[in-house]
Amino acid sequence: MEELSLHILDLVQNSLGAGAGCIEIVIEENTDRDLFLVEIHDDGKGMSREFVERVLNPFTTTRTTRRVGLGLSLLEMATRQCNGGIEIDSELGRGTKVRAVFQHSHWDRAPLGNIKATLITIISANPLVRLVYRHRVNNRSFSLDTEEVITVLGDIPLNHMAVLDWLENYLSQELNELYGGG
Ligand SMILES: Nc1ncnc2c1ncn2[C@@H]1O[C@H](COP(=O)(O)OP(=O)(O)OP(=O)(O)O)[C@@H](O)[C@H]1O
Ligand SMILES: [Mg+2]
Repeated sequence: MEELSLHILDLVQNSLGAGAGCIEIVIEENTDRDLFLVEIHDDGKGMSREFVERVLNPFTTTRTTRRVGLGLSLLEMATRQCNGGIEIDSELGRGTKVRAVFQHSHWDRAPLGNIKATLITIISANPLVRLVYRHRVNNRSFSLDTEEVITVLGDIPLNHMAVLDWLENYLSQELNELYGGG
């Protein structure tokens, strides 16, 4: 059972590998509908329809370091164990949308895990990529767009230590509120 934030990191790595300049992460936790959704949208190079049809097979990869690509197939297995599934929309030259659906209350659904650390990792390693994060938990929601942060910062890079510290605090606070904390 792998934390969902690690799957998210893996999907973001796929998007970065596809040359994305903008990546959007959407998380929706809805206990009324008993759904836990994760979506990643990117403006990377996309995949052909024929490639998408076989991408959930672990032997489909464009990696050159090994012959298996596990990211999407492991995520698909995780969703299926939880009465869900995965949908991939992709267009060559335009980008990709991956949507993973889980039954929220399913015993086997992994916890989201440390999404704050995942976001900080992505931002600190890729300060020039625009990251949009939207997270909804029932009727509460939170979003962050690094482009807005960049506008405020001017010349200061997004991965400056002081900025990352601020982001970490800000995320802690906002995520805490999202889950109904004080
Ligand atoms: N967002 C994306 N945009 C373009 N191509 C993608 C995207 N996501 C996946 N792919 C293609 O699908 C292949 C399979 O992806 P998958 O995550 O399953 O394995 P991998 O990334 O190759 O290896 P691993 O995830 O184990 O490191 C990738 O090698 C890449 O060619
Ligand atoms: Mg991958």
